[in-house]
Amino acid sequence: MQTRNITFTVNGKEVSVNVDVRESLLEVLRNRLHLTGTKKGCEVGECGACTVIINGETVDSCIYLAIWADGKEIRTIEGEEKNGNLSRIQQAFVDEGAIQCGFCTPGFVMSATVLVESGEKLSREEIKKGMAGNLCRCTGYQNIVRAVEKVMEENLQAK
Ligand code: FES
Ligand code: FES
Repeated sequence: MQTRNITFTVNGKEVSVNVDVRESLLEVLRNRLHLTGTKKGCEVGECGACTVIINGETVDSCIYLAIWADGKEIRTIEGEEKNGNLSRIQQAFVDEGAIQCGFCTPGFVMSATVLVESGEKLSREEIKKGMAGNLCRCTGYQNIVRAVEKVMEENLQAK
């Protein structure tokens, strides 16, 4: 087994870990760092359950080697609540009834976070396209889209 020491930032904290060069970032987050909010779904980059934010962009951590994360800034669902307060998009998910099961919701929240942090007001179709990497097999996407729209509208009003 070939291993390598890598250092990256997770939710604002620097961590160093010795990883197997074949290990995915998802495995390292869940199994080594115990950040189990990032979910393991399909493991082939199709469902978005494992979505994290790396240097400001959404990434399927199941198909991203941990060694690629060396020196990067990673955000997981665990870091989105601050001092007991949900992030604005998390709160909007609650308000709009967009919370779904524990497998898909963290990934949806991370993708929605990147969309609302762009500061842009996207159309409904653009929001759907932006969330297209996140799948739910059981319910609809309407409330999620509404939650994203809500925060985008608040962003505009705050300008
Ligand atoms: S678990 Fe990574 S995309 Fe499905
Ligand atoms: S996969 Fe989570 S509610 Fe459908």
